Amino acid sequence: MEKLVSLAKRRGFVFQSSEIYGGLGSVWDYGPLGVELKKNIKERWWRSMVHEREDIEGLDAAILMHPKVWEASGHIAGFTDPLVDCKHCKNRFRADDPKIKGTPGQPDGQCPACGTKGTLTAPRQFNLMFKTFMGPVEEDAAVIYLRPETAQGIYVNYLNVLQSSRQKIPFGVAQIGKAFRNEITPGNFIFRTREFEQMEMQFFVKPGSENEWFERWRTERMQWVEGLGVRTEKLRWHQHGKDELAHYAADAYDIQYEFPFGWQEFEGIHNRTDFDLKNHQQHSGKKLDYLEAATNERFIPYVVETSAGADRTTLVVLCDAYREEAVRSEEGVEKEELRVVLKLKPSLAPLKAAVFPLVNKDGMPEVSRRIYDDLRRHLNVFYDDGGSIGRRYRRQDEAGTPFCITIDGQTSQDQTVTVRDRDTLKQVRIASSGLVEYLKEKLAN
Ligand code: GAP
Repeated sequence: MEKLVSLAKRRGFVFQSSEIYGGLGSVWDYGPLGVELKKNIKERWWRSMVHEREDIEGLDAAILMHPKVWEASGHIAGFTDPLVDCKHCKNRFRADDPKIKGTPGQPDGQCPACGTKGTLTAPRQFNLMFKTFMGPVEEDAAVIYLRPETAQGIYVNYLNVLQSSRQKIPFGVAQIGKAFRNEITPGNFIFRTREFEQMEMQFFVKPGSENEWFERWRTERMQWVEGLGVRTEKLRWHQHGKDELAHYAADAYDIQYEFPFGWQEFEGIHNRTDFDLKNHQQHSGKKLDYLEAATNERFIPYVVETSAGADRTTLVVLCDAYREEAVRSEEGVEKEELRVVLKLKPSLAPLKAAVFPLVNKDGMPEVSRRIYDDLRRHLNVFYDDGGSIGRRYRRQDEAGTPFCITIDGQTSQDQTVTVRDRDTLKQVRIASSGLVEYLKEKLAN
């Protein structure tokens, strides 16, 4: 994992937030390549969930919501982790932290940080929502929360979307947006952070049909994940046991990936029943039931939720793409070299191609610039004339750039260039006028 974190910084994928001030705990910033990679993943999700479907609408709800939303959703009462404090070293841990020996609150409870026995407090519940104040007065009546999930923005807009889009049940609402959780044990780079992005879809169905839709969404979501190019042997399902289910869920399956730190979830499919809409109806006093025209039946819809983390999915894609390989014969390689390469699916790669003049003379830079300017209008490409060609390849391998285009002595004679494939290291010579078409074909899907 350290190698990936260091590559992410070196190549401009992910930086620690406020690094010059020593960083802010478990908050990360996306650099020039990271923002492109995450955007490509989000766009792929939006395309498959919203644009390619007739039965799902998009939404972008505000992060700040009426505080009663969180009473109704159960987050004020139930979105908590049990915590223990060490009275000696003042560190704080989750009560179920496997590093704790003995029983917190008892003489044998041992602090995993300072090793003192009997100094851990008994567990108490800690709410994970970030609080802030709305307006100029910092009083209890002004407390609002940063949303801990985007889903609630969908529930409170369910009727607005239904009426304005003229959808009929079953239908869904999808949203991508920031969520915040004051996690107690964050970590593993961008896996568990305090500020993150979710890609969530709530599918509203007739009660009784939720199990069928649950299975359909499980299939759909796994297919989408596989479409990211992730190795299938690194993916598996995990069904939540009774003790793992969130307060709103009747059934839940996670899609897990085998990260360098073990199998962990990055997306969940949840049967949320009518829990959320029923509670919002009760707390708001607004009717949220649905009249089915064909049967004249009124009901509160059930919800099947698909909930993915954009950052965690980005981490899955990065971990899965990271390889170290020996390179024997390639231009600029005199003896066997180890290369670090991100074998990203080409359509997800931040840069689609890099353009190099073989040498910075004989008119090559001018031709290269012209080709680069032309490609730039179609694709995100990069120009590099610094250092040996071998060094330039290595930099693009680390960035995950699938194609490197070199302008050489032959280009001025027959207007052809070489295109080097990141994964096979093979080069083909093609007419520069056919580059856009060639690359677009390779980048499809
Ligand atoms: N609306 C349901 C919900 O929020 P969740 O399992 O708590 O369910 C869904 O979160 C997804 O959000 C997770 O699968 C994960 O990808 C992402 N996620 C949750 N907490 C996160 C955190 N602290 N840092 C990064 N991603 C997180």
